[in-house]
Amino acid sequence: MAEVISKTALYDGMSGLPTLVEQAVELSRRMDFISSCAPAQGRLLAVLAAGRDGGNIGETGTGCGVGLAWMVSAAGPDTRFVSVEFDPERAAACQALFAGQDNVEVLHGDWRLILPRGPFDLAVIDGGGGGKGTEAPADPTELLRPGGTVVLDDMHPPLDQWPPEQWSEKDGFGRDLDQARDYWFNHPDLLTTEFRVHPIAGAIVGTRRGTV
Ligand SMILES: C[S@@+](CC[C@H](N)C(=O)[O-])C[C@H]1O[C@@H](n2cnc3c(N)ncnc32)[C@H](O)[C@@H]1O
Repeated sequence: MAEVISKTALYDGMSGLPTLVEQAVELSRRMDFISSCAPAQGRLLAVLAAGRDGGNIGETGTGCGVGLAWMVSAAGPDTRFVSVEFDPERAAACQALFAGQDNVEVLHGDWRLILPRGPFDLAVIDGGGGGKGTEAPADPTELLRPGGTVVLDDMHPPLDQWPPEQWSEKDGFGRDLDQARDYWFNHPDLLTTEFRVHPIAGAIVGTRRGTV
């Protein structure tokens, strides 16, 4: 059986993290939640969220709020955030964690709850809507403003065979990463790339074509 890796443990011994990120990591530890975004993924989210004053950012799969904390710490108070978490305990804990941030709302329920809050300047698809499983993925033309960006975490580093039809990659939950790659890469309204942010983690980033 494959070894279970805790991404939350990647924060052990790190210093200099934004306070809100430290608090979210601590919450992850207290809740034994191993699936928080890796530090490098958090930095990527921070880079993408920074400078979006007046912008609208959505996230599916709040987890214990680590990725959200990276983004909130990087953006100004004029950037609005909405994140949704399916698990009631994690959702309630994150509502408490972000209670002091007037520009942040954490919803409890299915990922589709954020759709009426869109379209987004940045959408982080980290729990529902990614197209890795059997459910239909999010529609980027509903999710994003023209010029808006979508990010998917937990893409394992791509295999080195080419062409991609020969790939057959499932993640540790049996989800089909190539199905998700195929959807986000070949969507006619997106310009998409994938890169490795950490030896165990890759990210898909796509921007909706068109002008605002
Ligand atoms: C990879 S973790 C999220 C990590 C978090 N975004 C971070 O940056 O630390 C995925 C989360 O998505 C939640 N989730 C899974 N399916 C969901 C769905 N359909 N709607 C909402 N949340 C979902 C899970 O309960 C889990 O907490």
